[in-house]
Amino acid sequence: MATTRRPLIAGNWKMNLDHLQSIAFVQKLAWALKDKKFNEQEVEVAVFPPFTDLRSVQTLINADDLPLQLGAQDVSMHDEGAHTGDVSGVFLKALDCQYVIVGHSERRADHHEDDEVCTSKVQAALRNNLVPILCVGETAEDLEQYGASKVPVDQLTAVLSSVKKGAEMVIAYEPVWAIGSGQAATPDQAEEVCATLRDTIRSLHGDEAAQSTRILYGGSVKSGNIAGFLKRENIDGALVGGASLDVDEFVAIARFPHHVSVD
Ligand code: PGA
Repeated sequence: MATTRRPLIAGNWKMNLDHLQSIAFVQKLAWALKDKKFNEQEVEVAVFPPFTDLRSVQTLINADDLPLQLGAQDVSMHDEGAHTGDVSGVFLKALDCQYVIVGHSERRADHHEDDEVCTSKVQAALRNNLVPILCVGETAEDLEQYGASKVPVDQLTAVLSSVKKGAEMVIAYEPVWAIGSGQAATPDQAEEVCATLRDTIRSLHGDEAAQSTRILYGGSVKSGNIAGFLKRENIDGALVGGASLDVDEFVAIARFPHHVSVD
């Protein structure tokens, strides 16, 4: 991992924990981070609760100045108006969200979000000063048919071609076959795709963007495999699903620079 990019460990809670549970969870998380002398200068940690929890978690973070960033799991492509069920980036910004996840494979599958939708959502995020975390990744069938890089590179290219240069974005490489399967990619596999994604950023948005953009790996990340990914030059953090719902696991992941054994 390049030292100039501060690693980001992002906890995607998905549709888990209601607002009361989220309060108890974040309190425990804050204690555990403190107890383990977590250093926020070294690693950035962000949580992505369901929309209904955001206000509760924001209040906790602000009241106690917790070393956590807040993000949402999705954002509307519209800022206001007749869009029943959508959540505006304006509202997310007002809740002190820093990040929004865009194009998670579960949304691509469940809500038919294609590259065009993802592009509009990334634009909505940027318009509202939210940093989009754009998820890209291939399915098992894609992997068999095209190899690992083609689909994620195509997904990234579609969005970056329509987004203004110079805006901060985070990219998350999440092979769909690795999500929730317990079968993570190997650090070698992940590094190869992440390096190709960085080359794509370079060719579309230039060297500075390629140098500064953080590229995360996601898919069955846990405390036992995190260090292997973060040792790699082009992997700057992780998007963590299941393991982000276990306080001890998530804290151990966030403290990856202190792991003695790396795999
Ligand atoms: P997982 O999920 O860590 O449970 O595999 C990752 C994700 O979907 O972002």
